[in-house]
Amino acid sequence: MNDRNRHPDNNRNRRGPSGAGSDGPSDGRLVEVHSQLSRDKDEPTEGFSLTPILIVFLFCGFGFWAGLYITRNSAEFSPSAFDLNAPKAAAAGGPVAFEPDAAKGEKLFLANCSACHQATGLGVPGAFPPLAKSPWVAGSEERMIKAILAGLAGEIEVLGAKYNGNMPNIGAGLKDAQVANIATYVRQAWGNNAEPVMDTKVAEIRKAIGNRGQYNPADLLKEHPLQAK
Ligand code: HEC
Repeated sequence: MNDRNRHPDNNRNRRGPSGAGSDGPSDGRLVEVHSQLSRDKDEPTEGFSLTPILIVFLFCGFGFWAGLYITRNSAEFSPSAFDLNAPKAAAAGGPVAFEPDAAKGEKLFLANCSACHQATGLGVPGAFPPLAKSPWVAGSEERMIKAILAGLAGEIEVLGAKYNGNMPNIGAGLKDAQVANIATYVRQAWGNNAEPVMDTKVAEIRKAIGNRGQYNPADLLKEHPLQAK
């Protein structure tokens, strides 16, 4: 735009039609015009200008959303997040899957069982039957789990010797995993050689037998006969 077009003088028509001013504006007039000009806003120009606040807000909002998205969906940046089988593996056992632990079982045995059955597993003749090489311990783990959970009372024959004692329901006060570890230890100590026991099996039996009283050994044998020799 031609600066002259903005000149307030153009509207004043003080010049002749020829356009050529005779003597030009007076000094006072010039000062007045310039002060008006300096109050005018600048012409639009290319260059830097402040970012509109709406865009700033949009940008911050996007950053916030991105942060939320990452925290919620990054799976803690675990590489297994991209393993399609990982959820199945976790569901199958989870990171805290139970492993029968005979070493833990031994400690628990010493704390809960050895007072009667002795640390040697040999028991006390006439009072407490042996667990070492006992057919009650071998074979189906359910027989032994039931004995630990509910206890035993009544006549029992173990390795050719008769007992008539009373074993309290010790397992009722122990966790499934603890009972499983004890049973695993007993089934593998002193020459015993039976499968380890899982905590889920203990939980299953605990649920099935509920709050029953002690087993009579003869009844327990009907449910779980000793293995043929
Ligand atoms: C208070 C003493 C006592 C404690 C403690 C005890 N038992 Fe017994 N246990 C007995 C008696 C007595 C019998 C025989 C029951 C009967 O005469 O009916 C027996 C029987 C058994 C039997 C079947 C018979 C055999 O010898 O194989 C098993 C198995 C057994 N106990 C395992 C355990 C385990 C495992 C623990 C520890 C969690 C334990 N007992 C704690 C006294 C005890």
